[in-house]
Amino acid sequence: MKQNIFLTVSCVIFFLLTACGNTPVSPDVPSNGKTSSSAPESGVTTASTLLQPQETTRSKTLVVYFSCTGTTETIANYAAEITNGDLYKIVPQEPYTQEDLAYYSNGRADQEQNNPAARPAISGSVENMEQYDTILLGYPIWHGQAPRIISTFLESYDFSGKTIIPFCTSHSSGIGSSASNLHAHCADSTQWRDGKRFGSATSKAEIEQWLKEISIVQ
Ligand SMILES: Cc1cc2nc3c(=O)[nH]c(=O)nc-3n(C[C@H](O)[C@H](O)[C@H](O)COP(=O)(O)O)c2cc1C
Repeated sequence: MKQNIFLTVSCVIFFLLTACGNTPVSPDVPSNGKTSSSAPESGVTTASTLLQPQETTRSKTLVVYFSCTGTTETIANYAAEITNGDLYKIVPQEPYTQEDLAYYSNGRADQEQNNPAARPAISGSVENMEQYDTILLGYPIWHGQAPRIISTFLESYDFSGKTIIPFCTSHSSGIGSSASNLHAHCADSTQWRDGKRFGSATSKAEIEQWLKEISIVQ
């Protein structure tokens, strides 16, 4: 009798163990996106495919620029190509006409630069700014400073913990205080790197050289 009970219990335990072992288990995906090693080999979602987006997200670069006559735009395009980063053009809600840009004419650009409170409106916005760690920020020098629309841009997002690397173009002025004067528009935890000024004849190779020097690319 005892033997029969033992045999029956053993069979039930064996059955339960076998049944559980064959139950298809969907891969456990913890909130950090990692799968356990039991993920099915044939599944479309593998540990590496799940990890990849997070890894690329962590070091994603955004090249942001404002440019009215194309000089800064060319450099920004080079930088985006070299870093494989996303590109965002700051587009003013009210485009600047040639007249607006005529400097020392007391035109629109002159007036904005003379008014520290000026915040020209931007058309559109960056989607998912959270995904970017590093922002290359390009602008033309206007009367020794960044155009006021750069202040509008910086005050529109939370750059806490992000790294911003400014660059500018000009006829002849250096980057001067134009970059350090932008710091006040961002959270204290924003990491500002030294900026650099480029002339209109700057080549893609020169931009690559700069990005290597500051360890943005290898
Ligand atoms: C309103 C205004 C002010 C400018 N001020 C300066 C300046 O102080 N120093 C300088 O070297 N160039 C100055 N420039 C020239 C621009 O910085 C230069 O042409 C720049 O490369 C233009 O960039 P973009 O083609 O991307 O708009 C000024 C241009 C404008 C429109």
